[in-house]
Amino acid sequence: MAQIDPDLIPSHHLHRVLLSAIAPRPIAFASTVDSSGKANLSPFSCFNVFGVNPSTLIFSPSRSGRTNELKDTLLNVKEIPEVVINMVTYSMVEQMNLASTEFPRGVNEFFKSGFTPVPSEKIKPYRVKESPVQIECKVRQVIETGSGAGAANLVVCEVVLIHINDKVLDKKGAIDTRKLDLVGRMGADYYVRASGRSLFTLEKPSGKAAVGVDIFPEDVRMSAILTGNDLGRLGGVHALPTAPEIVKYMASPYFRTILTKHSGNKEKITEEAHKLAHGLITKNELQEALLLVLATSNFAVNDV
Ligand SMILES: Cc1cc2nc3c(=O)[nH]c(=O)nc-3n(C[C@H](O)[C@H](O)[C@H](O)COP(=O)(O)O)c2cc1C
Repeated sequence: MAQIDPDLIPSHHLHRVLLSAIAPRPIAFASTVDSSGKANLSPFSCFNVFGVNPSTLIFSPSRSGRTNELKDTLLNVKEIPEVVINMVTYSMVEQMNLASTEFPRGVNEFFKSGFTPVPSEKIKPYRVKESPVQIECKVRQVIETGSGAGAANLVVCEVVLIHINDKVLDKKGAIDTRKLDLVGRMGADYYVRASGRSLFTLEKPSGKAAVGVDIFPEDVRMSAILTGNDLGRLGGVHALPTAPEIVKYMASPYFRTILTKHSGNKEKITEEAHKLAHGLITKNELQEALLLVLATSNFAVNDV
């Protein structure tokens, strides 16, 4: 493993490492105004949601890594503590990228990038019409983490109104992730598009206790065939098959065929059983997979 001690490398290198490792990051397309009402629009991927009571979003216009200058967005929220956070979809990426150009203070990136400003309802900054989710926020706090180049300035926002385009809602009125087509920022010039085959679902563990991976015998935990994801699925069940169920399974023609096919060679039997179990797990047949791996662990050569 390569090791990096943050105290021993230049900060621009550390920045690259951290932004490549901590990804994908959602993008806050932040619309602000200065005290004279001039609009500003810039993307920030040091951004996330942190709670709902009060609803808390944080993004960070950091000090410039090259010049240590403060960004216009930060200066604006200090003058007018309000911001619209617009979510960025794939159809917006080129214009969003253009808006990130370091234009002089006072230049309106809505016009430079060709996005359409729409008045907000509760705050002064404009919303981005092309964005399907526009979040009006009041800035509650700005936390400056340092005074050196690249230091973060955490802009802590409270949501006051959310606008969602009907086109990204499902029949029940909830946001349909598959319709959103959001993008995230990775390291260097990489982005990720959250749509199509990139999306997958993972059921939350239910309220019931899971057995955990540590309950399995060593040959299962250390299997060269079963993956970490397989073990995660098996360890997520609420209960293992009972001893009588395993004994009954061991006597089944299916299991006996595997034993006799490999003439009692435990290594080969385990390999085949784990391959079969992997297939069963893929098909979500978890109890069947458990019976197979536990029966295989239990059998002794003289059982054949
Ligand atoms: C996708 C994307 C994400 C970005 N994320 C950040 C960020 O989290 N923090 C930051 O300081 N700059 C970030 N930048 C760079 C700023 O957008 C850029 O410095 C911009 O010119 C700042 O504008 P402003 O001075 O008008 O606020 C990002 C740029 C892009 C394209």
